[in-house]
Amino acid sequence: LAGSCPAGGHHISGAQGEKPTLSDWYPDRLRVELLHRNGAAADPLADFDYDAAFSAIDLDELKSDIKRFLTTSVPWWPSDYGNYAPQMIRMAWHSAGTYRIADGRGGAGQAMQRFAPISSWWDNGNTDKSRRLLWPIKQKYGNALSWADLIVLTGNCALEIMGFPTTGFGGGRRDAWEADDATFWGPEWIDNTSPESYDDMVLRGERWVGKPGDADYELQQPLAASHQSLIYVNPEGPEANGDPQASAIDIRITFGRMAMNDMETVALIAGGHAFGKSHGQVPAAEIGAPPEIAPIEAMGLGWHNPVGSGNAEHTMTNGIEGSWTQNPTQWDNSYLENLFGHEWEQTKSPAGALQWTPVDKDAPRTPDAHLEGVDHALMMMTSDLALKVDPTYRAICEQFLADFDLLTREFSKAWYKLTHRDMGPKPRYLGPEVAAEDFPWQDPLPFDESTTLGAEAVSTLKQAVLDTGLSVSDLAFTAFSSASTYRDTDKRGGANGARIALEPQKDWAVNRRTVDVVARLRTVVDEFNAGGGDRVSLADVIVLGGCVAVEQAAREAGVEVEVPFTSGRVDATQEQTDVPMFEWLAPVVDGFRNYVRDDLARMTSVSPEQLFLDKADQLALSAPEWVALTGGLRVLGCNHDGSSDGVFTDRVGVLSNDFFVTLTSTDYEWKKADEAGLSFTLEDRESGSTAHTATRNDLIIGSNAQLRAVAEAYAGSDGHALFVRDFVAAWTKVMMADRYDVKQG
Ligand code: HEM
Repeated sequence: LAGSCPAGGHHISGAQGEKPTLSDWYPDRLRVELLHRNGAAADPLADFDYDAAFSAIDLDELKSDIKRFLTTSVPWWPSDYGNYAPQMIRMAWHSAGTYRIADGRGGAGQAMQRFAPISSWWDNGNTDKSRRLLWPIKQKYGNALSWADLIVLTGNCALEIMGFPTTGFGGGRRDAWEADDATFWGPEWIDNTSPESYDDMVLRGERWVGKPGDADYELQQPLAASHQSLIYVNPEGPEANGDPQASAIDIRITFGRMAMNDMETVALIAGGHAFGKSHGQVPAAEIGAPPEIAPIEAMGLGWHNPVGSGNAEHTMTNGIEGSWTQNPTQWDNSYLENLFGHEWEQTKSPAGALQWTPVDKDAPRTPDAHLEGVDHALMMMTSDLALKVDPTYRAICEQFLADFDLLTREFSKAWYKLTHRDMGPKPRYLGPEVAAEDFPWQDPLPFDESTTLGAEAVSTLKQAVLDTGLSVSDLAFTAFSSASTYRDTDKRGGANGARIALEPQKDWAVNRRTVDVVARLRTVVDEFNAGGGDRVSLADVIVLGGCVAVEQAAREAGVEVEVPFTSGRVDATQEQTDVPMFEWLAPVVDGFRNYVRDDLARMTSVSPEQLFLDKADQLALSAPEWVALTGGLRVLGCNHDGSSDGVFTDRVGVLSNDFFVTLTSTDYEWKKADEAGLSFTLEDRESGSTAHTATRNDLIIGSNAQLRAVAEAYAGSDGHALFVRDFVAAWTKVMMADRYDVKQG
């Protein structure tokens, strides 16, 4: 028939990814596939040696290119005051400011600002223009310069051309190539498709418990931002209430979650708002869709502004209008001088946003960013006034007012921390401008090359570990406990440093079993080092103990394997270990060790298995790695409390595939053993007797379809060798996760 579809259908109803998707049908399903995002298949540079390419760049030339660009305005998005520097500082700050200490997610490390949802948060308004303006520079340096490095470096160059001394720059950030669908940004649902709904943003989200000022006022973990789709706090105050005192409370909480103390917080805000201006010429309802859903011809840019030129003097970004200082492109102390030198009264921007202006009509004025001969009253946001009304912030401001050099030093250090916080150990920093100083937030390690061992020393040490008589279970448990604090999100934690022997880790409930083992292994270290020849670190002996245990367990199961061991770890001191900052690494759930925090149910409605997925993700594991490690650790007897939950074997300490065989067997029936559904019994269908006990962390491997598929591969008649191979590889991956001193990444 004329006009009919050649394939025979009359219309096409959908394509890949169209709704409803699997997760629409089953919103509570465990999304195991999230572990495989950002895989090599999505990365055109998977085989590219970024470190070498970046290191070959002439940083001076690159920086002069950036600095020249900053003061060369282009017509499609003219610079304010003839200088792009302030808008680039905001772009860099917003890129880094998503970082949160609770799970290490967010941060400048992968240039996630290019992807939804971050690209399209109202708070990131017009950062799309900032990045597009930088494209010619990105294009010139190509793949040798990641977006993530370029964004942070541009922030530094911007500060420098306005007279601010930066502390340094470390390159080495590798870009992501797809949106992050895994990070939890908060429970609130905002309809991003209609500009009117931007009003939802000012609503207090479900993430808060209580009201500002209440003793139990709290922000849900692991969040850092006070509202959905903001980087930090609402500039107009909580719920746009214009209350500087309440704003101060939110600022302290949100900046604290970014791992910033009061001094750093004040330095960052007072430092940042010495520059540039806010843009609020047009009501938000007039503004077009954000980049993620803008019309195709907008080519990835969003927030179309239909008024006037849509830019320059008509720019609309946040909604507040004006500048904090008389000279917004010069580093000076006038932000604080203005804040404290005047009384401020509430007013409204042309866009209708709540802001503040000096009561004193003789106060200095600030030039228009584009129009010759036009000037304006100064502006402060409710969040700026917070620094004046909060007694602690106020005292710090007064110090900075009296000592501009102090502000300069503190802002410089805090900016370095902000923009490098998620890079992990210092060996990951590249280039000639890396600050020589070690900062506490870098979790520094001592420099000691003498702990690299030859084969003979390793074999002597292996024997010494065996001679301790420590069990396979204890050795494997301790090695895994030491290494598994690693989190790939901000590259913190891991076995290097042997911080498992220091506060706070040695006191964690999940580590209780390691204390005696570590003490015993320390005697191995001491005796070896007393020999006067090679020297070994405790960190290495803990990991070596794990190798010895796994090799022995495999041998018992009839498989000869050599578990790779790379020496060279060092031992950190207590002074090098920031106890409160390490406390954030304490696991809430670590299914590998069958650990669930006692008060989990009181803290969250999130299931243990969902937090187990999170733990696997933090260790950068794939689904097979997750499954292999869990099954292996169970038969090795590595439950944190020595319990037999999930230990589906009668030969503990043997690297068998018994866990998977039992888990997939039809001879048994699983039954809930408590009301909450946290513990289970495994009953023999025939005899009715209880064969084993288990937790949700065990059963998820058999109940989730994706994990079960892997478990079946290991449970099959030919599965044992495959399992041992995969277990050893996953084990080694975890042991080496933090070894940026010897690996790339
Ligand atoms: C601009 C809010 C902290 C640097 C702005 C704007 C808002 C804002 C609403 C105007 C955006 C626009 O309409 O163009 C806040 C709040 C903060 C905070 C609520 C925390 C309480 C910081 C920090 C820095 C910073 C820590 C940097 C260290 C800047 C800069 C601009 C700016 C440079 C000017 C951008 C331009 O001229 O285009 N801020 N900010 N801000 N912010 Fe912040």
